[in-house]
Amino acid sequence: MKKSSDNVKNEILKLKREKNAVVLAHYYQIPEIQEIADYIGDSLGLSQNAQSTNADLIVFCGVHFMAETAKILNPEKKVLIPDLSAGCSLADSCSPNKFKEFIKNYPGYMVISYINCTAEIKAMSDIICTSSNAIKIVGSLSKEQNIVFVPDKNLGGYINKLTGRNMVLWNGTCEVHDIIQVEQIIRMKKENPDAMLIAHPECQAVILELADYIGSTTGLLKYSINSKAKRFIVATETGILYQMRKSSPEKEFLVVPTDKNCSCNDCTYMKMNTLEKLLNCMRYESPEIKLSTTLIEKAKKPILRMLEISK
Ligand code: 13P
Ligand code: SF4
Repeated sequence: MKKSSDNVKNEILKLKREKNAVVLAHYYQIPEIQEIADYIGDSLGLSQNAQSTNADLIVFCGVHFMAETAKILNPEKKVLIPDLSAGCSLADSCSPNKFKEFIKNYPGYMVISYINCTAEIKAMSDIICTSSNAIKIVGSLSKEQNIVFVPDKNLGGYINKLTGRNMVLWNGTCEVHDIIQVEQIIRMKKENPDAMLIAHPECQAVILELADYIGSTTGLLKYSINSKAKRFIVATETGILYQMRKSSPEKEFLVVPTDKNCSCNDCTYMKMNTLEKLLNCMRYESPEIKLSTTLIEKAKKPILRMLEISK
């Protein structure tokens, strides 16, 4: 028999106390998970929280690369994820074997990897970045330093444009952001001339050029709170709208539809986590993120370098 959602929530809260667990959730998680989380944030905020937590058990409600990052920062702790198959199209676009061959073509180049990649790619990188600190991370290297940026070509192109660099880009994209069509944006802007267009940097360059503000999920949320504007066209995954509407109930947030039949733009991977799966993973302490000590040691260095620069 299916438990009522209140029962499930109460059991999760009880297990959190009993096991001294912390529930970390990304903004793209379903509202019920965001409500029960101890911390909700973007990839940088989640990594910083994972680094500083005193909890014995880390329960990561997000996608695999995010939980993996938490494990790399806490090798001695158990890190759980409600659904182990919650992947990421960007991380999948860059296989370690192909990347190993790719970087052979660029001797002397430094590798900056967007955090949306596997632990194996992180282990081959010099520094990690997220969408909120990418400009700062790239700016921390001398102008003469050649760089390979992996795996998101849209974010990489945006950094190149802003910094005047010519980083070599891996040809990867996020299927949720790359699918957003500029024609839809133009139509929505015409129909809603008073609305601000706010976009995640994983969107295509043609969309970013039209945006009034570009930022990480935390950046987009903060902008929507602080802006005097009353209406926003939001070019990112729909999960963030829950916090936007909660923080600014008087404002209107419009989702960019990805096709005629849908008024949504969901990341199927992020939405794999449910309250029931969260409860089961806390109860049975499974599925757990497991990585070899060697891989953790190698992948940790570039993450710590990012966290140090981001302080
Ligand atoms: P943020 O770091 O901006 O939250 O982005 C994570 C992500 O997966 C975007 O698709
Ligand atoms: Fe990966 Fe895109 Fe989903 Fe973010 S929204 S987790 S980049 S597939």
